[in-house]
Amino acid sequence: MSIQLHRLLYASKAHVDPCGKSLRDIVDTATSRNAALGVTGVLCFSGDHFLQLLEGPVSALEELMTSIRGDDRHSILREWPAAPAEDGLWFPQWAMGYAYDEQLEHLVSRLVGAPSSSHNACLWAQPLFARLELYRGHIL
Ligand SMILES: Cc1cc2nc3c(=O)[nH]c(=O)nc-3n(C[C@H](O)[C@H](O)[C@H](O)COP(=O)(O)O)c2cc1C
Repeated sequence: MSIQLHRLLYASKAHVDPCGKSLRDIVDTATSRNAALGVTGVLCFSGDHFLQLLEGPVSALEELMTSIRGDDRHSILREWPAAPAEDGLWFPQWAMGYAYDEQLEHLVSRLVGAPSSSHNACLWAQPLFARLELYRGHIL
């Protein structure tokens, strides 16, 4: 029987210097650890906030989120629980795609205040993530 893959989303307030090396460190660590755990996803940064979507086996997502929740380079504002990725992986090719996007601010304030389910939160974020292909490769 194949492993049921899950998807989760969270939004956080960033405590990193946008011009410093923290972002590069985060993306480098995420790329290698996620690949080892069979996790894929994207990290979007606005300068003030992060929005991250992670996909993979639920045990790997939980292991990662234990580290990510305790990371003082940000504080989580809202986290939606992992839900089955019934429509398949959205980012099978990215161990950790990274994008800078100022328009993320609008989405984060909408998401953080919304009484939405995990599924709805991911769907709200999908149009933003759909544009990220444009930024791929423009990491720092
Ligand atoms: C916004 C943000 C996103 C992160 N995303 C990931 C990630 O996708 N994968 C990962 O391995 N680490 C990620 N990290 C780094 C982890 O918090 C952690 O530092 C790293 O996984 C090492 O784990 P450890 O401190 O438990 O050894 C992220 C950190 C931040 C601040």
